[in-house]
Amino acid sequence: MKNTTGTTARTGNTQGTSNSKAAGNTNKTAKGSLLAKFFTDMLKDIYWAENHLVEKLQVMMKAATTDELQEAFEDHMHATQKHKRRLQKVFEMIGEKAEAKKCEAMDGLTKEAETIIKETEEGTMTRDAALIIAAQKIEHYEIASYGSLVQVARTLGYDRAATLLEKTLWEEEDTDQLLTDIAESDINPMADEEEEEDEAKAGKEPETSGMEA
Ligand SMILES: [Fe+2]
Repeated sequence: MKNTTGTTARTGNTQGTSNSKAAGNTNKTAKGSLLAKFFTDMLKDIYWAENHLVEKLQVMMKAATTDELQEAFEDHMHATQKHKRRLQKVFEMIGEKAEAKKCEAMDGLTKEAETIIKETEEGTMTRDAALIIAAQKIEHYEIASYGSLVQVARTLGYDRAATLLEKTLWEEEDTDQLLTDIAESDINPMADEEEEEDEAKAGKEPETSGMEA
């Protein structure tokens, strides 16, 4: 089983972050534009997502089999708390109140992670392999969101906000890469050795003969 390899380049996200035509934009009317309103809505969405994720990463951490993955989830939880604080700063920078608006995508992605916990056996490497995949789906949503936020912030002339959002984007990319490394080096190969209990037993039973059609 191969995990996704994640975003490989710093500018490899959906919208890219390096081709801003408005890097020096000092558009004083940005706050009143439709794009500015949409930007604020996107911030509210990801703010909800980060808040929700802090809670759900604790559940994922407790469910993980290996210390390695538990630590990775714990580190990501601390990073997520930092991302929340950065978003509060961004709201402040653009003169908006920090508000959360339910992010249906993150809600769905974390529900999928919880389903995986229910459907995989406790203490198995297969559970960790599956949890990593769930976590990477979450990371990719965050990478797409922050990549877009950076680009739109630059277009609106919110350059300080863009710089802050870009720090988070890079951290999300690093987390994604770390998860890929953990999966490929240890967890996936060990999960590949695991068998279902019934199958394992069946393998030990003496073969019946003469019953074949
Ligand atoms: Fe985050």
